[in-house]
This record gives sequence, structure tokens and C-alpha cells, in this order.
Amino acid sequence: MTTQDATNSLYLQTPGETFDYLDDLRRNCPVSWDPILRGYLVTKFDDVYNVMFDNARFRLQARPEEQYQEHQPKGRVRTFNHLLSLKNIQPRLQSVVQAEIDLLIDAKAPTGHMEVYDDFAEKLPAHIIGLFFGLDRADFPLLLSYRRARHALFNSPPDAEDIARTAREEQRKMESRMAEVIADHRANPVDDLLTQLIEMTEDGAPLTDEQIVTIVARDLLMAGSETVTNSICNAVYRMLTIPGLYDKLVADPSLVPAFVEEALRFDPPVQIFWRATEEDVEISGCPIAKDTQLYTSIASANRDPEVFSEPKVFDLTRPKGKHITFSVGLHKCPGHFLARYELEMSIASLLSRLPNLRIDPDAEQPQYVGVALRNWGPIHLLFDAPKGD
Ligand code: HEM
Repeated sequence: MTTQDATNSLYLQTPGETFDYLDDLRRNCPVSWDPILRGYLVTKFDDVYNVMFDNARFRLQARPEEQYQEHQPKGRVRTFNHLLSLKNIQPRLQSVVQAEIDLLIDAKAPTGHMEVYDDFAEKLPAHIIGLFFGLDRADFPLLLSYRRARHALFNSPPDAEDIARTAREEQRKMESRMAEVIADHRANPVDDLLTQLIEMTEDGAPLTDEQIVTIVARDLLMAGSETVTNSICNAVYRMLTIPGLYDKLVADPSLVPAFVEEALRFDPPVQIFWRATEEDVEISGCPIAKDTQLYTSIASANRDPEVFSEPKVFDLTRPKGKHITFSVGLHKCPGHFLARYELEMSIASLLSRLPNLRIDPDAEQPQYVGVALRNWGPIHLLFDAPKGD
């Protein structure tokens, strides 16, 4: 069944857990018109998978009428996969990722309190990408304000002009700083991923500054920060609210990778993604015309009972690799190695460095907020601070 006249929207379901709404759509109306998103919301696992996999019939398009490909080099997918390959990431895990985790935890460990989003999760992934691509610590505030403005845009309805304007202003500042850093790197190359990007060629020609700025500031910083931020918050929230889970992880830290995988399925940070139809198509019996905006509900797909047994149970023994939190096919997230490392190392470090972790019962309680990107926040943690001499 499909509907053209739904009066409800994903935007009207938050804050709060949207899973009942998505269950209902998946069962009764798996391809439904969302009047605020102005596109069809696709909710069954098989349909979400096919739409995200099939690049011939479905193109990337974030919003109705958006031009996606400006300043994108043709080989962008190859570029991302090269930059974020294991070969590039692994040598930087201790020197950048673990070092940054330790610094953020060091700042809070003596206090006995941490608000996960502000004190840790928002900063970590943005700092890591900044450091990978030539920025330094003095750039961190700019990085965060740019990230916040783009995040607001990502989570806003398509007609939120003031939010779009702020995002454009922050983007201009970020891009002009990146242009300076690129010029410095050209003059004095250093061993980092920005230098690798500067040295890459396409059809024998180097990338332009504009292309490099787009890759770093628009693609990698955006794609690789908010997603990890939200995943950290979501994982910490479930770890501390699902009975017995925290104790199990403390007793056996080798369960952390399985925990992270299940947390990614359970609360994918990217809840919906987008495509547009390249031709007339039919999805779950619903005819859809060429050039129609689609939104794929990854959150719904990951809880489709036809694919995941008892999908509402957080199960550390679930077979790995079925969820589509990182998408599938050609556009599968090239940052998935880095993201998984950041998550596993963060959770392992929070567990080992901050004893007796718990949510502060007297502070504001976490809510599940956002639409396209969703996270639990704020999460005020208490833990045992080291005793003074
Ligand atoms: C838990 C964290 C993350 C999640 C859940 C996630 C998820 C996704 C998803 C769903 C897509 C869309 C794929 C599609 O169009 O089919 C994507 C694309 C992308 N992600 Fe991630 N991502 C995460 C972390 C990262 C990180 C850490 C980076 C880089 C530092 C990154 C870089 C990218 C890039 C560059 C794309 C665009 C790929 C393309 O257009 O071909 N992501 N990601």
C-alpha cells in the first residue's frame, strides 16, 4: 500500500523514539509521502537496500531540486576510499585518535562529571579530521562552529532559509581557512592526508584547490564528524540504560566491538538518507515518476523483522554485518573503518578510565533528538574521580 495524502511526517515524531511510527509505516505503507520532507519515505529493508545500492536507477540528491555534484571530481569515491583506507588510518590510530581521546578524557577525569555530547563526542571526530587534514588546535573552534551550522541545516526542513544562510556563512569561513592551509602545504609539504590529497591526480591533472576544499570541508568534515558524534552518544546511552550491559562490558572488554556493531544497528546516527529517481520506477508496488525525491529510512531497515530476529532486542551475539548503517554498494561510507575505530577506542577508554560510570539522575535527562541525524543528548555522566593525595 502507498499513500499520497499522509498528513504525518517524520519531522513531527521527534523528540522521542520514532520506532513505533516506522514499524507502522513499514507494515502498512512501506513507501509513504512525507509532506515536510517533500519526498517518499522508504521503510522496508529490501527497498532501502535496493534504492541505496542501485546507482543506475537512483541518484544521490539530498533535497528536491538540489544540485549535488558541483565541484566534485569524477573520481570522488576512489579518492575517499584511498584517503580513508586502512593503510592510511591504522598508522594514525595511536598518534592521533587515541591521543585525542586521552586528552578529552584527561580534561574531565578529575572532575567526576562529563556531558558526553559537549565534552567528548562533538569534539573528537571533528578534531581528528582536522588533524588528519592539516588544521591545528587553534582551528578547533572554527571547525566546531562550522560543524554546528551544517548540522542544523542537515536537520532542518528544506525551506529553512535562515538556517541555510548561517550554514553558507560558516562554510565560507571554513573554506577560506582551508585554502590558506592548502597553500601552506603546497609550499611546505608535511606527511599527512592533505598532502596526499594535493598530490592526487585525475586524468593526469592535479585536483584544483576548490576541489580539495570541497573534499575536506564539505564532504569529509561533515560526513565524518556528526555521524561519529551521534554514534558515540547513542552507544553510551544504551550502554548505561539497558540493564546489565555496562557491567557485562566492564567484566569483558573484548565484547566492545560486538557492542559497537549492535549499537550502530540499533540507533543508526544517519536515520534517513536520500536519493532521486533517474527513471519511472515501482517500489513495493508504488509507482514513482522519474525525478522524484526519495528518503531511505536506515533506522527502519535496521529493525525490519523480516531481516533481524527480535529487532527491538539489543543482542551482543547477533551475527555481524547485516545492518545498513553505512549504506551499501558504490557509495557505502568510505569512513566506516575510521568510524568503527573511533567508536571502539572511545568506548574502551571511557570504560577503563572513568570507573563506576552512570547517568546523573539529578541532571537533565537525555532525549532522542534530530531527524535525519539523531542522537541521545544531553548525557550527563557521573563517575568516580581519582582521589587526591
Ligand atoms: C558511525 C559513523 C558513520 C556513519 C553511520 C556513516 C554513514 C554514512 C552513510 C549512510 C553514507 C551515505 C552513503 C550513500 O550515499 O549510500 C555515508 C557517506 C559518506 N561518509 Fe560516512 N558515516 C560515518 C562516518 C564517516 C567518517 C568517519 C567519514 C570520514 C572521515 C565518513 C565519510 C563519508 C563520505 C565521504 C561519504 C560520501 C561517500 C559517497 O558519496 O560516495 N563517514 N556515510
